[in-house]
Amino acid sequence: MEEKKTYYITTPIYYPSDKLHIGHAYCTVAADAIARYKRMTGYDVYFLTGSDEHGQKIERKAKEKGVTPQQYVDEIVASFKSLWKLMHISNDGFIRTTDDYHVKAVQKIFKKLYDQGDIYKSSYEGLYCTPCESFWLERQLVDGCCPDCGRPVEKVKEESYFFRLSKYADRLIDHIKTHPEFIQPVSRANEMLQNFLLPGLEDLCVSRTSFKWGIPVTFDEKHVVYVWLDALSNYITKLGFYSEDDSLYKKYWPADLHLVGKEIVRFHTIIWPIMLMALGEPLPKQVFGHGWLVLDGGKMSKSKGNVVDPVKLCERYGVDAIRYFLLREVPFGSDGVFSNEALIYRINSDLANDLGNLLSRTVSMTEKYFGGILPAPTASLGEEDDALLAQARALPAKVEECMNKLLLPEALEAIFSLVGACNKYIDVTMPWVLAKDEGKKARLGTVLYNLAECLRFAGVMLQPYLPETAPRLFAQLGIEAGPLTEALSLRFGDLPAGTRLEKGPALFPRIDVKAELAALEAETLAAQAAQEAKAPAAPAAPETPVAPEAPAYIEFPEFEKVQLRVCRVVDCQPVKKSDKLLNFTLDDGSGTPRTILSGIRKWYADPAALIGKNVIAVINLKPRKMCGIESQGMILSAITGEGEGETLSLLTTLDAAFPGGSEVG
Ligand code: ME8
Ligand code: MG
Repeated sequence: MEEKKTYYITTPIYYPSDKLHIGHAYCTVAADAIARYKRMTGYDVYFLTGSDEHGQKIERKAKEKGVTPQQYVDEIVASFKSLWKLMHISNDGFIRTTDDYHVKAVQKIFKKLYDQGDIYKSSYEGLYCTPCESFWLERQLVDGCCPDCGRPVEKVKEESYFFRLSKYADRLIDHIKTHPEFIQPVSRANEMLQNFLLPGLEDLCVSRTSFKWGIPVTFDEKHVVYVWLDALSNYITKLGFYSEDDSLYKKYWPADLHLVGKEIVRFHTIIWPIMLMALGEPLPKQVFGHGWLVLDGGKMSKSKGNVVDPVKLCERYGVDAIRYFLLREVPFGSDGVFSNEALIYRINSDLANDLGNLLSRTVSMTEKYFGGILPAPTASLGEEDDALLAQARALPAKVEECMNKLLLPEALEAIFSLVGACNKYIDVTMPWVLAKDEGKKARLGTVLYNLAECLRFAGVMLQPYLPETAPRLFAQLGIEAGPLTEALSLRFGDLPAGTRLEKGPALFPRIDVKAELAALEAETLAAQAAQEAKAPAAPAAPETPVAPEAPAYIEFPEFEKVQLRVCRVVDCQPVKKSDKLLNFTLDDGSGTPRTILSGIRKWYADPAALIGKNVIAVINLKPRKMCGIESQGMILSAITGEGEGETLSLLTTLDAAFPGGSEVG
């Protein structure tokens, strides 16, 4: 028997540092649709995803939570796995960079590159963006911040190992120029050449000593391997590269497709191919940089977490509706906008109206006119039949053409265009009119047969994209998984007459747009109110606490921006609408009473006892409204413990008689 052609596809491995949002799901769902499509069209597919668990960012987040990095990642990685399961992601492997085989293989890779002189020891002094785990040169910064994420960078100075990227730059430039398919879309290839390769590649710092959470360099244990070197290796270590059993590596490498977000194309098309060149291994065939899913113009953020939590979205609208939206709405390679309106519109128009209705009309009419038994197409065919059948027969090739170019929305469009044609066919042939005339029974039977057969075609081709819906559609058509649901043997007319069709629940219930948007709005407001009530309770916790080993110093002028003042408590009352907030009236020395709300009611059961005390307040914090009252600053307190054990104490002056309005500095 002929060996199947292999197809190896990967997603990035995600950082377990935050919850995944719908943007992460986008990349994984796209990869899944491609993997399923390739399997369906006869390939032996290996589809890999996973988690990127090392690095300074993870170490800091764990510290912030008071757990070990391993404990921290374990919990989040479990949530990744359950999300992928929920979304029907059909990955063949899941790699964790903390897996033992990976750690060992990365150590061997590092050692080999060192032994052959491609990695050498020196010292690094420069800039580092911890959220992106990325080194930058002064000239690459935008307004002094990371050009990728816009956040501040840190100065780093430490002994480091370096990787001789420079040595391989010319070979890489040549490879990119002679392999136009290597970096897709083409615009990204130009960007890499213009912005990074042609100006000259600097050697890359590939080890760190200022933190511990990484893969130790075996021959110099105070160093851990730079997280990107560690992470990129996942694509081969999972296949057994540098392990006793590298049969998967032999079978599947080089990868056919690394699907990655546009901001990490750089790592995948510069560092990764050079690593492989240095190891003497073949390069992946293609790196495709997709765009971002953005929220009405802004990138996804946690504060909007409710709207973009993929689990919530799947629970609310169904997994396939979300998959459909992601695959259909975002032009592959460009950014796409997520909004609830657009999502609901897609569900109602494409899924409920076009597809759902077509199935329900076809099955209902077969039940009504033929007792649910599919009639044989015995009437001779006219023009409108020929056109429809031709479109159905052309569909597999059309989808194949789109998928070969990774045009996922266009592939779906082709399928839905057949669905649309069927709905028009019903309008034109008017089966309900045919049904009134006994002499037109054969014609009526032929129309219904053609519709059922077109629906089977649509269902077969939809399987990679809507894995939950296709079987539900087949069930109503009386088709079992098997030869009739296989894409490779799809032939018009194979659906046997006599098949029993049976009406089932609507594939996609129509959503009442107005009611749904109102419900979402109410939920968002409630979530915001809950956040606001929570926010003042943690006055001293900065966004990213700084690890003691690597203090991120601030300059005095930065500190000076915060205006702190001793204030005397004039009055203190619980806020009626809240069980957390206290309303302080303060004498800040200005003569005008200052109102500050603070979420510390839990610790001060008797607010009146605070009257007359000194507190320390930040007075130039932007005012904000909570429960209808404007809060003009923040009162400082000391916090110890966490969760149930958390204790809080307001900060004050040692000298109780110190006057309100005194500067703190
Ligand atoms: O970069 N829309 O991990 P990561 C579309 N660990 N895609 C988005 C997105 C959005 N709004 N937000 C994030 C890393 N992504 C590294 C990868 S691979 C060897 C190491 C995509 O968790 C993003 O573009 O920050 C990237 O491809 C992926 O999620 C992982 O992001
Ligand atoms: Mg990222």
